[in-house]
Amino acid sequence: MTRYKREDPEITRRKFINAALGASAAVGTVSLLSTLGGANPVFRLTPKKAPPMPGDVLVHAVGEKAGQPVTVADLGEELVRAWPMGKDKEGNDVVRDGEPTGILAIYKFPAGEIKAPTRLEGTIDGQIVAYSDRCTHAGCNVGEGKAPSGKGIMNCPCHSGQYEPREGCKVIGGPPPAPLPQLPIKLEGDKLVATSFFVSRPFGYATDEDWVKYTEQVKELLS
Ligand code: FES
Repeated sequence: MTRYKREDPEITRRKFINAALGASAAVGTVSLLSTLGGANPVFRLTPKKAPPMPGDVLVHAVGEKAGQPVTVADLGEELVRAWPMGKDKEGNDVVRDGEPTGILAIYKFPAGEIKAPTRLEGTIDGQIVAYSDRCTHAGCNVGEGKAPSGKGIMNCPCHSGQYEPREGCKVIGGPPPAPLPQLPIKLEGDKLVATSFFVSRPFGYATDEDWVKYTEQVKELLS
């Protein structure tokens, strides 16, 4: 008789997200990843599933440095993927990689290239900027692409949505209804630290009011 072992659904989910991030260019994979994190009911909230919060340190999401803080030296005009890392109530470090909404894209552009509507006060020296890496159209992970000019932009593999990361990740092509939300950051020593929640609602929230209400509940439950 065949025996089946039941696996903890949370562990299965984590395995899946790690695998999906390793192959985020695969459209089918990222679509399924997106489906998993579409809603953020507060009753499921844990420090691991919280969105990026004020005080969180940004850590590498993939590669040899996964889990280590992102430093200025790691950054350039190529997208660096990161997760926020905060603390649990006991003061232990927690990488908030339990919901796809927390995944981030970080860039460092030459001085003068970042312009409005980017919130410059939320960048580091007007050169380093962080955004949600989750498309506002249907929630896929957004990757890198090239504009016809040859300039690097953000390109969503699911339905070809395009964003300009030098200009507040405004939509420059395809179906996304809104820019990718910016995450205000500052430098603390050599680490990048979030100074607030996303400045606009990320994928999965119907209205700005829903997003603001959720952040207030997160603060109340986890601060
Ligand atoms: S999910 Fe990104 S363009 Fe559709």
